[in-house]
Amino acid sequence: MCGIVGYVGERNSLDVLMGGLSRLEYRGYDSAGIAIVNDEGVIETAKRAGKLQVLADELDANPPHRGRTGIGHTRWATHGGPTDRNAHPHLGDEGRLALIHNGIIENFAELKDELLAGGATFESETDTEVAAVLLGREYRTTGDLREAFRNTVSRLDGAFTLLAVHRDEPGVVVGARRNSPLVIGLGEGENFLGSDVAAFVEYTKRAVAIGQDQIVTITADEVTVTDFAGETVEVEPFDVAWDASAAEKGGWSSFMRKEVSEQPEAVRNTLLGRVVDHQVVIPELADFGDEELRAVRRITVIACGTAAYAGMVAKYAIEQWARVPVEVELSHEFRYREPVLDADTLVVSISQSGETMDTLMAVKYAREMGARTISICNTQGATIPRESHAVVYTHAGPEVAVASTKAFVAQIAALYLFGLHLARVRGTLTAEQLAEQLAELQAVPEKLETVLGQAERVGELAHWMADTRSVLFLGRHVGYPIAMEGALKLKELAYIHAEGFAAGELKHGPIALIEPGQPVFVVVPSPRGSATLHPKVVSNIQEIRARGARVIAIAEAGDAAVLPFADEVLRIPLAAPLFEPLLAVVPLQIFAMELAQAKGLDVDQPRNLAKSVTVE
Ligand code: F6R
Repeated sequence: MCGIVGYVGERNSLDVLMGGLSRLEYRGYDSAGIAIVNDEGVIETAKRAGKLQVLADELDANPPHRGRTGIGHTRWATHGGPTDRNAHPHLGDEGRLALIHNGIIENFAELKDELLAGGATFESETDTEVAAVLLGREYRTTGDLREAFRNTVSRLDGAFTLLAVHRDEPGVVVGARRNSPLVIGLGEGENFLGSDVAAFVEYTKRAVAIGQDQIVTITADEVTVTDFAGETVEVEPFDVAWDASAAEKGGWSSFMRKEVSEQPEAVRNTLLGRVVDHQVVIPELADFGDEELRAVRRITVIACGTAAYAGMVAKYAIEQWARVPVEVELSHEFRYREPVLDADTLVVSISQSGETMDTLMAVKYAREMGARTISICNTQGATIPRESHAVVYTHAGPEVAVASTKAFVAQIAALYLFGLHLARVRGTLTAEQLAEQLAELQAVPEKLETVLGQAERVGELAHWMADTRSVLFLGRHVGYPIAMEGALKLKELAYIHAEGFAAGELKHGPIALIEPGQPVFVVVPSPRGSATLHPKVVSNIQEIRARGARVIAIAEAGDAAVLPFADEVLRIPLAAPLFEPLLAVVPLQIFAMELAQAKGLDVDQPRNLAKSVTVE
């Protein structure tokens, strides 16, 4: 949701803050602001509704004085619309302190009443200003920023990362987190804070993830972490596994275009070092002994959006390979329906960001109910892996475009590794079968390169269809989640009504939507690998074609059966059925991206969305 950055050191903090915010803008982009404690010990702030560029233009026109301490914020509005006044930072202690916030303070209304009764005044409609004013009141009582901060956060309910500076304590930034991310960047004579490492990776790759309910204080030379009671907490630094350039566009017209093209690498890196002598090696699962994995009676996958579709694809594979029932549930539904969980249920969460609040809450709930939890995550130091018993990282590199692409294929690759590991442990696949499936998985990156080679053709198709108002997507078996993912990409990028259906469901209702000219993408299973399903899907195509649909088939190279009935055929290389989704999704991503660009839309930052959804 919101992006947060903090800095203390010798550099001009404005440069660090604006650089960090530009890398965090994917987290929220409806307003932005900064506060700097300048070298005269005065707090200067600037904040503007709109994208970060609006703030940058304002700062170019009216640059603040140089200051070595500062905080910056990019916002995705929750309480109070995206206006200049509601943008962060918010001030307290009569302008002597500034505070920024990511999350939602659930008890803000009662705190506000209490502060109003004490004579406080407010300028915005935000929950954040309540924390700023409360901190100001505590500072006036204690005269110590750390103590005031501790007193303040212990009064707050909900989810928050807060950073604050006070003019009377220049050279200090204080931060706290509960259910919302905060990472420290450790420098030489300078230190950083950020919602994720992208905020500071340009300056340092040494980082520390702050734990739940902890407070951090940074100065140029010192970092201290305590719990909310003030007890010192030991921290474990880690090295960021990617360079600053990985989070930059590097000559591409959009992050999305770059990330789509990085998919072969995302899968390759996720498999790297994890397939040794035709066996899966996942050291991160060392705590899950073979005995425990054999005893698993049920797997529940929890995730949201695209990550949930990755889970749906993996369900087919894990059930087929490891013969264990897998259910996939949206995290926000799972958490509130009293699911049946026990020690024999393995809960696997999937999250690119590792911060999605719905999924985080579902993981916590699963743990409380006694389940063992594994997370599949793309972000080092994120909260969900920390709350899980084990994590298998996808190595897709930073995904900046709001719509997920390369993380999706990397998630499927990681889940497939897990499924094959489970199959070996449970003895449900022979060594030869295992080796065969692993060879298929390892062949995916090269096949993805072939699919990407057709990008231009998909782009032309999208440009012809730029004024389309509704598109349907059909698939069967593993093609079904891909149909839903294709529809989601089109909705979020091109703002076009789109729906994905299981092709077999068509005759149970959705076929009524077909009228002459209705575009329908159909993910066609392989005629070799899915001899029974292929003719059924071809029949489905005939049924919709007979009613005037315009059919765009995504079919295996050489599949001639679709030719008489499809208006367009986009080809994917030959692959075993379970591996087709990794290939078939790519033309759908490209189609959505190209159509959005043809409509002049921003594909990296679609309206109303944010990359990391840290509110429920
Ligand atoms: C869609 C998309 C979202 C995310 C969902 C979960 O393109 O990106 O649907 O997949 O919000 O996010 P993570 O994976 O970060 O938990």
